[in-house]
Amino acid sequence: MKSLLIIAILVVSTLADCSNEWKALLNGQMEESTSNGCEADWKFVRRPSGGFCMKVFTGFIGDIADAEKACKTVGATLSGLQNKDEALYIQKAILAQVTVDSGSLWTGIKRTDKCMKQKLTATCTNLTSFEWTDGATTGTGGMLFQIGQPDNKDLNQNCALFMASKTPTVIARGTYFAASYEDTGCVVEFQKENIARNMLGYVCLKKAEK
Ligand SMILES: *[C@@H]1O[C@H](CO)[C@@H](O)[C@H](O)[C@H]1NC(C)=O
Repeated sequence: MKSLLIIAILVVSTLADCSNEWKALLNGQMEESTSNGCEADWKFVRRPSGGFCMKVFTGFIGDIADAEKACKTVGATLSGLQNKDEALYIQKAILAQVTVDSGSLWTGIKRTDKCMKQKLTATCTNLTSFEWTDGATTGTGGMLFQIGQPDNKDLNQNCALFMASKTPTVIARGTYFAASYEDTGCVVEFQKENIARNMLGYVCLKKAEK
C-alpha cells in the first residue's frame, strides 16, 4: 500500500514537471526557475554568453542614466535583448504590471560612437548603429528597430525606447510597432499626443548564480 502511494506521488510529480515543460514549449517561453540561482521574481534567461536573471521594473524614469542607476541598486545592469523571445517576454511582463495598454521601457542599448550624428547609411544600419551595454547580450537578434529606424532625427537620438503594447501598433504622433525599438534622446518626456509612448519602466539583468 505504502509503495503504491509512493509510485503514485512519483507519477504525479513527473507529470507536473512534464506539463510545465510543455507549457514552456507551447508559449515559446524561457525557463522560469530558481534552481538556476535567480531570485524568485527574476526570470532565468540563457544566452550564448551564459545564464542570467532578468527583471522588468515599473516606474517613470525620464533619463536612461537614472534607469541604469536603479538597476545598479539591485546588483544589476540595464539589459539588452538577445532575441525576439526576450522582447516578447519583457513586453508581456511590463503589460502585466500596469493598467495602460502601451508604453516604453529603457533597456541596455545605445548608439555606437562611430554612428553618433549619423543617419542610416551603408555603415550605420539598423543592425550596426546601436550596441548593447550590458556586456551580456550578443549579436543582433534582439535589435528590433521599427521599419525606417533608427533614423537619428535631429542627429541627437543616441538612445532607444522599447515599445510594449497590447495592440500590434500604437498611434502616438506617428505609428509605432509593438515589441520594437525606436531611437530617441537619452532623456525623454511625453505630452498628451504621445502619452501612448509614456515611460513604464526598465529592464535589469544580472548573472545567474548557477
Ligand atoms: C533592417 O532594415 C532592412 C531594410 O529596411 C529591413 O529589411 C530589415 O527587416 C531590418 N531589420 C530589422 C531587424 O529590423
